[in-house]
Amino acid sequence: MHSDPAACAHNPSDALTGRTEAERLHQRWDDQWRRHGYGHWAVRRHGEARTLGFCGVKPMDLAGLRILDLFYRFAPAAWGRGLAGEAATAVVTWAGRRVPRLPVVARIRPANTASRHVALRAGLVRAAHLDRPGEDGLDWIFATNLPGGGGGSR
Ligand SMILES: CC(C)(COP(=O)(O)OP(=O)(O)OC[C@H]1O[C@@H](n2cnc3c(N)ncnc32)[C@H](O)[C@@H]1OP(=O)(O)O)[C@@H](O)C(=O)NCCC(=O)NCCS
Repeated sequence: MHSDPAACAHNPSDALTGRTEAERLHQRWDDQWRRHGYGHWAVRRHGEARTLGFCGVKPMDLAGLRILDLFYRFAPAAWGRGLAGEAATAVVTWAGRRVPRLPVVARIRPANTASRHVALRAGLVRAAHLDRPGEDGLDWIFATNLPGGGGGSR
């Protein structure tokens, strides 16, 4: 999933090129779970072993703010069924209860329409004042629970 060209089209810097990189990513995600008690979840249908996608949060600094960075990536075969929206909504709800002091932020490439829909579905709103260059170009920022309230506008 993390090396599928379609699933990395908007974020090519994320694309894994081999097993060693995949093991490093797994190690980072595993370390984060141990350190913070939250991180990235694998998404499956009840009773099925196949992982359809990943969704979760990691703490990071953005524009001088401590935030939870919202991540989602699904296998292209699973797209278009509402799964990402459902998973992101569950994660944002969970974060609001378990880590309420931190805003949740999605950094989205402007052309990534599906991702924008997922962020809005999960309750985030556009926070254009936080837009900034990311690893793959300009990131549009969507957020919830920012200091001072909310995020911005839809
Ligand atoms: C973004 C991604 C997770 C969406 O997954 P998905 O399972 O198709 O999402 P959903 O089925 O929940 O659909 C989410 C919304 O996007 C819309 N959508 C999906 N694909 C779309 C497209 N190509 N163009 C426009 N809208 C699209 C859906 O209609 C839905 O809108 P709604 O909530 O207003 O009804 C998936 O495309 C993906 O994994 N992309 C690669 C990784 C990625 O870009 N991650 C985000 C990085 S910021």
